[in-house]
Amino acid sequence: MIIPGNHDARNVGYKLYPDFFGKKHRVKKIKNAKIVALDTTVPDIEGGRLGRTGQDYLRKSVENLPGVINVVAIHHHLIPVPDAGRSRNLIDDAGDVLKLVSENYVDLVLMGHRHVPYITRLENTIMLNAGTLSSVKTRGYHGHSFNLINLYDKSVEIEVIKLLEDKFTVECVKKYKLTD
Ligand SMILES: [Fe+2]
Repeated sequence: MIIPGNHDARNVGYKLYPDFFGKKHRVKKIKNAKIVALDTTVPDIEGGRLGRTGQDYLRKSVENLPGVINVVAIHHHLIPVPDAGRSRNLIDDAGDVLKLVSENYVDLVLMGHRHVPYITRLENTIMLNAGTLSSVKTRGYHGHSFNLINLYDKSVEIEVIKLLEDKFTVECVKKYKLTD
């Protein structure tokens, strides 16, 4: 599943995006995981916003059923992440979206944007920010990395994998129990 970032929406890219990659919001169920990918871009602006349409899409797409792992993916940040510079990285309606995420039992939120690998948990929601594997815009000593996520019935395992001297190295593994 692909979602647009700020660079994809720039220079009228938001008009090209659907022709190349499809709908800007999308949802997919894979076994017990419900993955909701949402477009938070605003053309020609670095920051983002989910907006009312996106919020409604999120509300309707998650499944509040036991055994279903709800995953939401957005490009921008829903919460501040360290080493990310000035706070223009949060989406404008972060407060409203956070409330939605909490009220609708979202288990995992995937974010990116500022290329900082970071994991934290807010109440029952794991907030996972991705680094970058291919961009030259790395931050400080974070270097290049990607996240490998293993979803089990009642738990999530996240591996942060770094590219060090042309070799992939597991930097850390975090395991979280999921609540019903
Ligand atoms: Fe970005």
